[in-house]
Amino acid sequence: MRIYLDNNATTPLDPAVLEAVETSLRDVFGNASSIHKEGQTARRGIEDARESVARLIAAEARDVIFTSGGTESNNAAIFGAAGHDGRHHIVTTAIEHPSVLEPVSELERRGHSVTIVPPSRNGVVDANAVIDALRPETRLVAMMLANNETGVIQPVADVARVCRERSIHFHCDAVQGAGKIAVDVSELGVDTLALSAHKLHAPKGIGALYVRRGLSLDRHILGGAQERRRRAGTENVPLAVAFGVAADLARKPSDVGALRDALESDLRASGCSIAINGADAPRIPNTSSVTFRGADGEGIVIGLDLNGVAVSTGSACSSGRVEPSHVLLAMGLTPDEARSTVRFSLSRFTTRDEIAQTVAILREVVPRCMKGVGSRE
Ligand SMILES: Cc1ncc(COP(=O)(O)O)c(C=O)c1O
Repeated sequence: MRIYLDNNATTPLDPAVLEAVETSLRDVFGNASSIHKEGQTARRGIEDARESVARLIAAEARDVIFTSGGTESNNAAIFGAAGHDGRHHIVTTAIEHPSVLEPVSELERRGHSVTIVPPSRNGVVDANAVIDALRPETRLVAMMLANNETGVIQPVADVARVCRERSIHFHCDAVQGAGKIAVDVSELGVDTLALSAHKLHAPKGIGALYVRRGLSLDRHILGGAQERRRRAGTENVPLAVAFGVAADLARKPSDVGALRDALESDLRASGCSIAINGADAPRIPNTSSVTFRGADGEGIVIGLDLNGVAVSTGSACSSGRVEPSHVLLAMGLTPDEARSTVRFSLSRFTTRDEIAQTVAILREVVPRCMKGVGSRE
């Protein structure tokens, strides 16, 4: 049996979610906009799912729209909020996902000015540093709830409060936070918030965007009047239903945090020389970013894979060359340290035995992955 510890990349389907998708695909083929019985059945599926997704973030269902995933939700919020009201300064952080950084870069190419705020060494972007970056002409701030590589939770509410006072749109990418920590959109004070289902044991290709009531947002997909005119296109009922079931399941308590702590203490006791990135910061309970000092992270990932364990380096692989993670570099790790880092991301299906096995395999694999003498440190 393989051990899957790459749940921040994506998650396996929960059996209850799979069952809901199968039932919906088989039995619910109607168009949710049709007025006949088939249409109404589809509509009920979508609206029940919307209630469930809204509950996950303490929102009202009518303020949640379905999208094709986290990437679309981030694009929709960022391009939708960039607006034309004369203000064209955007603030974001250096640790955002590419689905935030790329739209922001595109807006910069189109003439907006952009400030990118770096994190501290522990992976937290200081709220005051973001607030200090605000200008009279700031239109939009985009800040994630929890980082996908380190799991570090960001001070979203502190920044959003100031943005609200200054009528600056605050967008939050909560793709890695929602379902892992309690999220309440009113307490966070966000204008828009992005979610993705495949991080929560539902299929890929469905996400959601919370849009604060009354907020004006340029539409990103034009066509029919679906999703309160905010997102055109015939609704994907089976995937929305899947997201709803997954959202309900994600609200149940889980002991994943205790397993992550066990992984880290087992690793510390294993004899490997490690540093845990963001260890002294608040973190989502399933994620551990571990630098194996002097070792090649990619080698560890391959070694673990050959021994039946799936993890990731968190580095982006572009044109065959593994680039060190922009998140870890922004936190002040050297490129070598970033390349020595492995991300373990657990789920509610992870067991204590899997953690023990993984650490036992690492004790074998890590010494074989040490970089040549003299190459670093
Ligand atoms: C923080 C974060 N934002 C956005 C996304 C993109 O979500 P999706 O894969 O649903 O497009 C991801 C996925 O890796 C993510 O980790």
